[in-house]
Amino acid sequence: MQKLEQLYEGKAKKVFATEDPNVVIVDYKDDATAFNGVKKGTITGKGVINNKMTNHLMQKLEAAGIPTHFVEQLSDRETAVKKVSIVPLEVIIRNISAGSFAKRYGVEEGILFDAPTIEFSYKNDDLGDPLINDYHALALKLATQEEIDLIKKYAFAVNDFLKTFMKGIGIDLVDFKLEFGKTADGTIVLADEISPDTCRLWDEKTHEKLDKDRFRRDLGNVEDAYEEVMRRLMGEQG
Ligand code: TMP
Repeated sequence: MQKLEQLYEGKAKKVFATEDPNVVIVDYKDDATAFNGVKKGTITGKGVINNKMTNHLMQKLEAAGIPTHFVEQLSDRETAVKKVSIVPLEVIIRNISAGSFAKRYGVEEGILFDAPTIEFSYKNDDLGDPLINDYHALALKLATQEEIDLIKKYAFAVNDFLKTFMKGIGIDLVDFKLEFGKTADGTIVLADEISPDTCRLWDEKTHEKLDKDRFRRDLGNVEDAYEEVMRRLMGEQG
C-alpha cells in the first residue's frame, strides 16, 4: 500500500491518503506534547511503541467484538486504518483517581473506584478540550443519542478488556482516553490509539508510573517506561 498526499498532521501522528478512498495510513511520530501543546519534547522510540501497542490491542479488541479502524500494520511506525471522520469527543474512562479528576474534585490520586467513570471532552484545541456532558454533545450536534449510547457501551467494553489484559502483565489501568470515528457507511468504530500516551498505567506492585505522566510531570526515565510496557506486552504474546 502506497502513501499518497498528507491529509493531516497532528501532535503525535501524520495521516496520508492511499489509492483506496476508504483507507488512510497513519505514521506515528516521536513528538510529545502536553497541556494542549504548551510543553513540547521528544520521546525517542515512542512512535514505534505506540504503533505496535495500539495494533496489538486493537486486534484483541476486534476479536472481543469491538469494531476498530485497524486494517494492517505496514511498518514499525505506519499502519493502514479505515478512513473515518473522528467524532469530536474525547472519551475518558477512569478506574482510579488521578490527573484532572483528582485536581477538579480535590481528592488524592490512587483511590480505587467502586465502578468506572466516564466523561467526555469536546475535542477542540482552541477551546482546550472542555469537559461536556451528553446533552451538550447533542446540542452541539457532535453525535446522535444512538451514537453516544454506542460509544459509551464500547468504551466500557474496552475498559473491561483492557483492565484484565493489563492486570495480566502486572499493570493497574488507572484511566485512558479513547476516540471513535465514523466510516463512510456511518459505522462507529474505535479509532486513534491506545498507548502510554493515552492511558495511565501504574505498576501493580511498586505503583511506578509507566506512561506519559513521566513526561508531563518531568519524572525522568520516560523512554524506559514506554519500553517496559512494550516488553511486558510482547512477553504476554509469546
Ligand atoms: P486527565 O486526567 O488529564 O483528564 O487524563 C485522563 C486520561 O486521558 C489519561 O490517561 C491521559 C489521557 N489524555 C489523553 O490521551 N490526551 C489528552 O489530551 C489528555 C488531557 C489526557
